[in-house]
Amino acid sequence: MVTICIGKVGQAKGQKIQLDANELVSNDEFALPEKNAFGNSFRDYETDNGRKDIVEQHYKSSHINQTYEFVKQMREEYMKLDKAEMGIWECCELLNEIVDESDPDLDEPQIQHLLQSAEAIRKDYPNENWLHLTALIHDLGKILVLPKFGGLPQWAVVGDTFPVGCAFDESNVHHKYFKENPDFNNPKYNTRNGVYIEGCGLDNVLMSWGHDDYMYMVAKENGTTLPSAGLFIVRYHSFYPNMTFIVKAKSWLMLRRSSHIMNPSLQNIFQQS
Ligand SMILES: [Fe+2]
Repeated sequence: MVTICIGKVGQAKGQKIQLDANELVSNDEFALPEKNAFGNSFRDYETDNGRKDIVEQHYKSSHINQTYEFVKQMREEYMKLDKAEMGIWECCELLNEIVDESDPDLDEPQIQHLLQSAEAIRKDYPNENWLHLTALIHDLGKILVLPKFGGLPQWAVVGDTFPVGCAFDESNVHHKYFKENPDFNNPKYNTRNGVYIEGCGLDNVLMSWGHDDYMYMVAKENGTTLPSAGLFIVRYHSFYPNMTFIVKAKSWLMLRRSSHIMNPSLQNIFQQS
């Protein structure tokens, strides 16, 4: 059994995660299904399936409140990892009461999503144990909405993530709401590079705060044995443009626009499509 404790920091800080380009790309063809297991399409923000307004309100709150300063504060607070200590399955069960209000396609309990993700990946990649585990744990950070973990509002936990500290890209879903974000008119943050140096690398860019970065912190600081590609998936799976297995034409455009702040190896990976 693999356990990642959610508790005290058990590993020296400052350890750098090395990304190996070969771990992130595959020559295998991957056929993206058009429907999920419940017969719904993926990331459909236009069709009103009864969740459209909830999803839009979610992104409105997220885009107004996710500022550079807010993300810095959240990272500082949650880097303490002082909320609890538990095994993976216990954490999976905690997720069972949570519904992700940002997901336009899915309103089933999260534990089903975890198990289905892990099983689907095991079917397609039976020999990649690390990838099965990555899928199982990728959303565990959503426990941030629970009182014991700070009871954060959903806009600070779920939904697509995006870089902060530089201009918000127009291909972000419901981009119009960024106009009410204080950083939108702040000359420190509203230029192409913002606070970043060209080519500084994605791992030096602050992303909007949420369950991805939290679970990445928990895994890394507790000395996970997942390979760097697994940690990368956990950390960035809601940054829709970045994953080759989450194909979304609009997002690839955004990714190319963001490539100026990535390091060269990541640029190569992302510009292959
Ligand atoms: Fe997620």
